[in-house]
Amino acid sequence: MSCKFIFLLILQTFIYQAMSRTLLEDSIVGRYQQWIAKYGRNYEDDAEKEKRFKIFKDNVEYIDKVNNEGNRTYKLSVNEFADLTTEEFIATRTGYKISSQPTSPKTTFRYENLTEIPMTMDWREKGAVTPIKNQGRCGCCWAFSAVAAVEGVTQINSGNNISLSEQQLVDCVEGSNGCNGGFMDYAYAYIIQNQGLGTEENYPYRAMDGTCDQQMAFNVVARISSYEDVPSNNEEALLQAVANHPVSVGIEGSSRDFMYYTSGVFTGECGTNLNHAVTAIGYGMSDDGTKYWLIKNSWGTTWGESGYMRIQRDTGAPQGVCGIAMKPSYPVA
Ligand SMILES: *[C@@H]1O[C@H](CO)[C@@H](O)[C@H](O)[C@H]1NC(C)=O
Ligand SMILES: *[C@@H]1O[C@H](CO)[C@@H](O)[C@H](O)[C@H]1NC(C)=O
Ligand SMILES: *[C@@H]1O[C@H](CO)[C@@H](O)[C@H](O)[C@H]1NC(C)=O
Repeated sequence: MSCKFIFLLILQTFIYQAMSRTLLEDSIVGRYQQWIAKYGRNYEDDAEKEKRFKIFKDNVEYIDKVNNEGNRTYKLSVNEFADLTTEEFIATRTGYKISSQPTSPKTTFRYENLTEIPMTMDWREKGAVTPIKNQGRCGCCWAFSAVAAVEGVTQINSGNNISLSEQQLVDCVEGSNGCNGGFMDYAYAYIIQNQGLGTEENYPYRAMDGTCDQQMAFNVVARISSYEDVPSNNEEALLQAVANHPVSVGIEGSSRDFMYYTSGVFTGECGTNLNHAVTAIGYGMSDDGTKYWLIKNSWGTTWGESGYMRIQRDTGAPQGVCGIAMKPSYPVA
């Protein structure tokens, strides 16, 4: 082989590699433009846009990698969170925090002796779940989780299908910190003390902190008499509770796989450092025999399965996948 030929070969390989790199880069730039258009992003300047592009690219590469490996039971998608770092995401889209305020009256777990448990449950089919909501940029997942559980027991108890107010909880619950995080049991304690919770329409969601509007807060439609904690780290107990009505659960909802989940049964990656709250609204088993919990999230309908997630159940880990069995609680109508 002549020297010249080898040189050409090397040159060719080099050019090819350089080209494919630019093509890949171009295609991510193209996806970024489309994504910006789709989600209506408006960056204040080019520096911000460039910074967000780097984060976007990194997230997209991760999402593509996971989907291409093809060995998970779930898929990810480049959703509206793709220009956020994990830290930014946790700060603005989650919000599960337990402060030092004492919680739970010590009560028994009323379903402990329940043995008749349906094989599957989906409270949506029974009309006990209102449409998916969106907390936006406010760390008040705790209010959405509590409201979904109260909406559930209200509908089951009285037949009334009413969307209730998260903003009332954000503004009025002491012990919680509005958009800076809170805990569902504080919300239940407030609803008992306030003698009820008003409708979404009466006290509309604003995705920001506000002062409690007493006049709106006294216009109540849904009452609860008490609330109870499901025994911790016990998926069997959680099943007994969810068989009866939707249940609030804490969860670790900040892994990239969780952020970009779009379909299938979620099996992790995630830890058990609870930082998000959602509502367990049912359970079942997928076609391949994987047992799952059905959860309602508050990140709009573009996340997950139209706003919902199926997350693996009964793996043998006491805390459950993402810690779902660690801190469940529910209101009693
Ligand atoms: C999927 O495959 C990748 C790459 O081979 C591996 O690192 C990862 O652990 C696998 N994940 C699962 C859930 O099997
Ligand atoms: C469950 O059964 C045990 C044993 O009979 C009883 O002591 C307990 O009070 C029951 N729990 C409830 C919530 O009814
Ligand atoms: C409950 O109300 C919502 C609208 O607020 C509606 O989309 C849903 O279909 C209703 N469900 C039932 C079972 O009536």
